[in-house]
Amino acid sequence: MTTFTLNGRDVSVDVAEDTPLLWVIRDEVGLKGTKFGCGIGMCGACTVHVDGRALRSCITPLEAVSGAKVTTIEGLDPNGQHPLQRAWIKAQAPQCGYCQSGQIMQAATLLKDFPDPSRQDIDAVMGGSLCRCMAYIRIRKAIELAAA
Ligand code: FES
Repeated sequence: MTTFTLNGRDVSVDVAEDTPLLWVIRDEVGLKGTKFGCGIGMCGACTVHVDGRALRSCITPLEAVSGAKVTTIEGLDPNGQHPLQRAWIKAQAPQCGYCQSGQIMQAATLLKDFPDPSRQDIDAVMGGSLCRCMAYIRIRKAIELAAA
């Protein structure tokens, strides 16, 4: 049994400790906002926060989050009113939308480290979060709006 905090609630799951956190979140807990893209830590679709740091849940084994605080897109702001979520809507950032929860979770840690990020800061931190629709310009604009 592994216990951790997920979006402010204690969660205990009885699955193999090497199960990727992504599948625990999606299949054991039933939160579907965190997406599977590549499964090898290369795209960012599965990004969640673990103790405030952005981590790729597809390559994070469950045992690594024992006792930790995990936050998914559903817990970023329970009312969906996080400044980034509002800015995302205002900038109409998504196209297909698939990668957007990972993009927003990555952007949230960016703004924690760089409250007034330069374009270079944004590109450096967000560069590993891939968007197959190429919505990068609108994603950057949304981050700038959220920071303003
Ligand atoms: Fe985890 Fe791509 S699905 S980084």
